[in-house]
Amino acid sequence: MTDAPRTQRTLVLVKPDGVRRGLAGEVLRRIEAKGYTLVAVELRQADEALLTEHYAEHAGKPFLPPLVQMMASGPVLAIVAEGHRVIEGFRSLAGATDPTLAQPGTIRGDLARDWGRPVIENLVHGSDSPQSAAREIALWFPAL
Ligand code: RTP
Ligand code: MG
Repeated sequence: MTDAPRTQRTLVLVKPDGVRRGLAGEVLRRIEAKGYTLVAVELRQADEALLTEHYAEHAGKPFLPPLVQMMASGPVLAIVAEGHRVIEGFRSLAGATDPTLAQPGTIRGDLARDWGRPVIENLVHGSDSPQSAAREIALWFPAL
């Protein structure tokens, strides 16, 4: 099966909590099982500069410093996935930001929980709009 020619790409990150728990493969499996195509996959240790830029929309919010610290606490698996409507499709696979409320069947609903730490650990990131996807893919994979 192939997508229509004008398709879409999204940036997915398996966050350090997901990599530490050995769930990177499970996230890749769900992306592939849904029928999306992997364009790039790379295990990376992100630095604070990259993460502050990545989370620019959250500048000034109280959870940004602990979020950047958590995201720099170990490697992330950076993924570019492709397919018609993949941006909203992956957000749907990921589930709600708060893993306690995320629906069972989603990545966060099945595999994440709230540990009561300073920042919500929810295993994955997914771009939330075509504009965010373009910006984030350029940031993480400038060669694409
Ligand atoms: P993401 O950007 O990581 O895909 O997650 P999201 O769109 O579902 O959530 P967003 O609002 O963009 O927040 C980014 C990440 O920050 C952490 N967060 N903690 N009140 C809190 O403690 C809080 N709020 C957000 C989460 O890790 C969230 O995924
Ligand atoms: Mg977000």
